[in-house]
Amino acid sequence: MTTPHSVAMIRRLAEQGRMAESVNAALAAIAAHPQSLEFNTQATYLAARATAVSSQSILQQMCVHHFVATPEQLLRKFETAFAAAPDRYELFITLSIALCRLEWTDLAIQAFANALNPARPQDVVANAIVREYDHSAQHYDQSPAHHASIKAFTTLLAECVEGPRRDLAVIDAACGSGLAAATLRPWSQRLTGMDLSPPMLAMADQTGLYDRLVEGDMVAAMAAAPDQADLVVCAGGTYYLRDLAPFLAAARTCLKPGGQLFFADFPALDGMGVMETIGGTFRYCRSAALTRALAVEHGFSELNCVLELSFNLPAFHWHFRRQ
Ligand SMILES: C[S@@+](CC[C@H](N)C(=O)[O-])C[C@H]1O[C@@H](n2cnc3c(N)ncnc32)[C@H](O)[C@@H]1O
Repeated sequence: MTTPHSVAMIRRLAEQGRMAESVNAALAAIAAHPQSLEFNTQATYLAARATAVSSQSILQQMCVHHFVATPEQLLRKFETAFAAAPDRYELFITLSIALCRLEWTDLAIQAFANALNPARPQDVVANAIVREYDHSAQHYDQSPAHHASIKAFTTLLAECVEGPRRDLAVIDAACGSGLAAATLRPWSQRLTGMDLSPPMLAMADQTGLYDRLVEGDMVAAMAAAPDQADLVVCAGGTYYLRDLAPFLAAARTCLKPGGQLFFADFPALDGMGVMETIGGTFRYCRSAALTRALAVEHGFSELNCVLELSFNLPAFHWHFRRQ
C-alpha cells in the first residue's frame, strides 16, 4: 500500500469524533486507490453519517477522484467495479442511505438494489421472529435507530393521514414495544396493538396507551376483525413477509370502506419483484411496481409513497385508502 492511510485509521478517527480528519483521510485514500472497495466504503459510510451539506460535499469529492461529474455516474462506476464483489453490501447500502437523505430517491433505490439477491423461497417463520425478539426486546427501546425510525414514520404519517384525527379506530400492526403509540393515542377512540412477541407486547402494555393488545400474527388478527378500523399502520413489520398479498388482504378486511393503510417497506427496483438484502438482517424488499399492483388487486387506491430512512435503510412509506 502506497498511501499512509488505512481503513483502521479512518475508522478510528470517525469513532473519536474527528470527522473532518476521517473524511480527508478517506478521500486521500480513494485518490491513491480509486478501485479499493474498502476505502470507497469508508467514504460512503462517512457520507451516510454526515449532515446533508457534508454528505453532498463528500460525494462530490468522490466524484472528482473517480473522474465523473455526478453521483449517478459514480454509482455506475461502482456497479462496474463492485457489483459482483461478495462484500459489497456496506458500500451500496451506505451510498443508498446518503442518496436517500439527499432526496435522490431513484438513485438511492438503484444503489440499494446492488445489495439485494433474489428472496429465499419461504417466509421467515413466526417462531424465528418470536425467538429474535425474545433476545432483543429488553434492549429495543435503547436503540437510537429504532427511535429515529418511528419518528420518521410518525412524522410522515401525521403529514399524510387525512380527515379529523380523533375518535379513530386504529390498529398498530407489529406494534413491538409501542413506540408509535404516543402519536396514535391522541387520534384514537380505540387503539389496538398486535404483535407476535410476548416481551415486546409486555413493553407495549407498560406504555398504558393501548386499549387492546393482541398476541399473534398480525395478518390473522386483522383478518379476524372485519370492518373495524379507520387506520392501520405497520412500521417495521412487512419486511418479514415475502408475500405482501395476505397482509394487504387482511388489512382490507379489517378496514372500514375509506379507511387508510400506512406502512414502511424496503425497496427493490421495478422488475425485480421480491428481493432480500445480502447482509444486515436479511430483510425482504420489494419493488414499487409490485406493491402497487398488489394494492390495486386488493382494493386499495394509492394516496402517497415517500422514500425515507427506516431502521437505517431506505424504505417506501406507503399510504393507501381502502376503496
Ligand atoms: C422492528 S420491530 C418494529 C416495532 C414497532 N412497530 C416499531 O416501529 O417500533 C418489528 C416487530 O414486528 C413484529 N412482527 C413481525 N412479524 C409479525 C407478524 N407477522 N405479526 C405480528 N407481529 C410481527 C415483531 O415481533 C417485532 O415486535
